[in-house]
Amino acid sequence: MHKREQGSRVKIVSTGFYAPEKVLTNADLEKMVDTTDEWIVSRSGVKERRIASAEQATSDLCIEAARRALRNGHFKVEDIDLIIVATASPDTIFPSTACWVQEGLKADHVAAFDIGAGCTGFLYGLILAESLILSGVSKRILLIGGEVLSKITNWKDRATCVLFGDAAGAAVLEESRDDSGILSHYWKADGSLAGLLFQPAGGTRMPASVQTVAGDLHYIQMKGNEVFKHAVKRMGESAVEALKRAGLRKEDIRWFIPHQANTRIIDATAERLQVPPEKVYVNIQRYGNVSVACIPICLHELHVAGKLKKGDIILLDAFGAGFTWAAVAYRW
Ligand SMILES: CC(C)(COP(=O)(O)OP(=O)(O)OC[C@H]1O[C@@H](n2cnc3c(N)ncnc32)[C@H](O)[C@@H]1OP(=O)(O)O)[C@@H](O)C(=O)NCCC(=O)NCCS
Repeated sequence: MHKREQGSRVKIVSTGFYAPEKVLTNADLEKMVDTTDEWIVSRSGVKERRIASAEQATSDLCIEAARRALRNGHFKVEDIDLIIVATASPDTIFPSTACWVQEGLKADHVAAFDIGAGCTGFLYGLILAESLILSGVSKRILLIGGEVLSKITNWKDRATCVLFGDAAGAAVLEESRDDSGILSHYWKADGSLAGLLFQPAGGTRMPASVQTVAGDLHYIQMKGNEVFKHAVKRMGESAVEALKRAGLRKEDIRWFIPHQANTRIIDATAERLQVPPEKVYVNIQRYGNVSVACIPICLHELHVAGKLKKGDIILLDAFGAGFTWAAVAYRW
């Protein structure tokens, strides 16, 4: 345990991301399933997504994102004391993807574990990392959100395969020395709606068998229009609550960074918050829905583009399988 000062905050001191080189465009998908570029763009906003190679597992993407985040912050692997990986597409059911990442980074001095909170996993991780640092359990945490959703996607199901992509984003977190960092959070879950978005087979509820494979039950199943309604409602709720808890008004927001599942969900949430489009960061057109990797990639892109100024108020907002939802108010 390390000592901390009362009232201190936790901040992101470095970011990085990795997206596989292979690009799958909507034109490519038109040749694979009965769809059109026009349908995909107008219904979701996605134009292209990245796809992992046959050899790449989720940990491989996470390791590269982590290396880049460490390098960008001039950290050595020895400088971190915990690895948390958020993922819905782990390398293996056990051990955790975080342990595969730990091995890849040669970080044999740290503890490592996964959190599963669907697409909300990176924000759940941020909230958890904050409390671990403020309580003195950890000093510097490597938080990674990584997915290879392409390997649990049913490429015959046009309603899901056009939406998702593969990528990983990473952040290094430590105690803040000034007033920047996490200001407030709000997080919730509702397991009664789990069946609207899930991977039915492969766990102990429905072990993998010849029948589950034949029935495509090891792939993502989603009732898209149902998920859509809940996402809009819950992302609005999270954003409002996180702002309230930080004592902020909507006008204080410089950047609204929502989970990138669908531009229509993003627009509806921004409209509810009355945040104008120029304050909303959107990159879904280039990566699709990369689940837990969305928010760290957005943060990294904004940062390297020089668009995050000291003191900027950022609102991070996510929704995912579970259902889970969360928002974090942050001062850069
Ligand atoms: C998936 C999603 C884009 C579908 O958009 P939608 O407007 O709800 O569309 P629907 O599912 O109602 O389908 C409308 C029609 O389009 C068809 N359709 C579905 N996918 C299609 C595709 N890729 N190309 C062409 N048509 C398609 C459907 O079969 C349906 O046809 P029908 O009316 O003849 O039955 C949208 O529901 C969504 O984004 N949901 C939330 C997803 C999400 O956030 N998931 C992750 C949470 S982290």
